[in-house]
Amino acid sequence: MNDVLITQLPPFILRSALRALVSQGKDSQGIFVDHVQRRLRASPPSFIPPAELFDSKAPKAPQFLASVRCMFSSKIAVESLPYFSYFFTCITQARLLWASESELETMLIKACGDVVQAIQALKESHPSRTEELRSKLLELQQALLTCDAYSLEKGLSRPFTRARVQVDDAYSWFFPGTLSLYYPDYQARSQISERSYLHTSAEAISYTSLGILEVPRLFNGLWQLSSPAWGSATSKQQNAALGQLLEAGLLAADMADHYGDAELVYGLFRASLPPPVANKVIAATKWCVFRPPEVEITRQFVMEAVQERSRRLGGRIELLQFHWYDYTNKDYLFILSELVKISRSHSELVSNIGLCNFDAVHTEEACLHILSEIGEVGLVSNQVQYSLVDSRPIIRLVDVCHKYQLKILTYGSLCGGFISEKWLNAEAPDIYNEALQLTPSQRKYFDMITTWASWSDFQILLQKLKSIADKYQVDLTNVATRWVLDRPAVAAVIVGTRLGVSEHVESNLKVFSLKLDNIDTNSLDELVLKGAAKVYETLGDCGNEYR
Ligand SMILES: NC(=O)c1ccc[n+]([C@@H]2O[C@H](COP(=O)([O-])OP(=O)(O)OC[C@H]3O[C@@H](n4cnc5c(N)ncnc54)[C@H](OP(=O)(O)O)[C@@H]3O)[C@@H](O)[C@H]2O)c1
Repeated sequence: MNDVLITQLPPFILRSALRALVSQGKDSQGIFVDHVQRRLRASPPSFIPPAELFDSKAPKAPQFLASVRCMFSSKIAVESLPYFSYFFTCITQARLLWASESELETMLIKACGDVVQAIQALKESHPSRTEELRSKLLELQQALLTCDAYSLEKGLSRPFTRARVQVDDAYSWFFPGTLSLYYPDYQARSQISERSYLHTSAEAISYTSLGILEVPRLFNGLWQLSSPAWGSATSKQQNAALGQLLEAGLLAADMADHYGDAELVYGLFRASLPPPVANKVIAATKWCVFRPPEVEITRQFVMEAVQERSRRLGGRIELLQFHWYDYTNKDYLFILSELVKISRSHSELVSNIGLCNFDAVHTEEACLHILSEIGEVGLVSNQVQYSLVDSRPIIRLVDVCHKYQLKILTYGSLCGGFISEKWLNAEAPDIYNEALQLTPSQRKYFDMITTWASWSDFQILLQKLKSIADKYQVDLTNVATRWVLDRPAVAAVIVGTRLGVSEHVESNLKVFSLKLDNIDTNSLDELVLKGAAKVYETLGDCGNEYR
């Protein structure tokens, strides 16, 4: 029977079945990835000749790139590098020409997004720093450099910059002491003048204090840069989008060490600003430890982790948020107190320390430990999921945050975009239906919605949000964001931002002038809060789903 199912099921059902199997835990995930690796190594993708790759009628490039994507996603990232080098070399060999917004340009932008993700996968696979790795990276660097020079010579758009920055950075990370190529080459000055920024910023935005910082109550979330599955943009488009956010006063970004090139993109953008503006920009990033560290945990180890994130950001980290994989390994207590000490002794590297996805019990444990070690709590925030469909923080975390004066930074507050007019009165999506083009974020939050309640309950919630939004002439998302901002201990909502792909700046700014009355808030509370206990019982306290 299984054989019949496997051969006959439509691909979208097979995909969701595989997802269900893989989400059973590390063992089933390991079997899946090992199997894919074995198959790909046994029959690796072929190097399709340039004429076929870019055939004007039936180009094979999309299928070639899809195979390469499977390689690095199944953690055979080193082997994927020559395929990228080959692909980019073929572009100049085939003397390709692309028009702005053409299919070909879109494909090249996406291929560069793939390189960003492949390099992240490469770093996470911890390869040995061999001569073979060096030459593979150099070859890719050279291929991208040649493509960039070619596009310049031909007067074409330059989609390759983003991939170049990421590859150059990885090269200097794997082989320290080598020259980082991108800084002198790419650092175009931003068009943002101090005057235009100062003129627009103060008007609409509300701020709150976070440690020694004053931060806007909306952050731009850059997880969306970690995969082309969210759509890809060129460096130029990304910088334009960041400029628009900054001019609107949204000058804080949330990143992480594993969000593709987010730290590089934001760091280079910040470096291109006039110093008085750059000094106001808030760079929040993370140090996420997902597996047991292979080295001894020392002060030096902690310092190097801080230095690495500061290096990628090209300067200071305003907020470093720490994620730890397993509470039974207590090394995180030492790490956290070292981080707080470093924020006091090396404020040019990092000025505030926060937590990421810590539950109430371990937030309190961390606060007490640091207090006993250095006489102050030192932590300023905890970043957790908080939305109308996941209000677990109210159960225990908010009390702990009050007790130790930590603030909450929230993510998932728009359920990856499900909390928007687009999904009002819509059918429940099949999350593997390619036509819907759902993002990884939406696949994650669809599960959250169904953990909280049913899709029809979610529709009732969207209708309620819409009726409140109409009353104030704002957008439905503004009401959802305002509800989260009004919860005790919440400092700011992190809004996922697809730089250069989609934008909602004007809409999101409306949240600052919106005030919900008691009737609005009570009616929303009544609809959503009963689900908080259910989510808590199913998933555990905040962040438990990551452990
Ligand atoms: N610590 C963690 O474990 C963790 C986990 C997840 C996320 N995060 C952080 O939180 C950030 C938020 O990401 P998220 O995945 O949770 O997504 P989210 O903020 O819930 O949703 C973002 C999406 O909402 C839509 N949107 C935003 N403003 C809108 C508006 N005014 N009107 C209509 N739609 C609007 C956009 O969709 P379209 O682009 O489709 O228009 C956007 O991509 C991430 O970037 C990351 O920084 C942290």
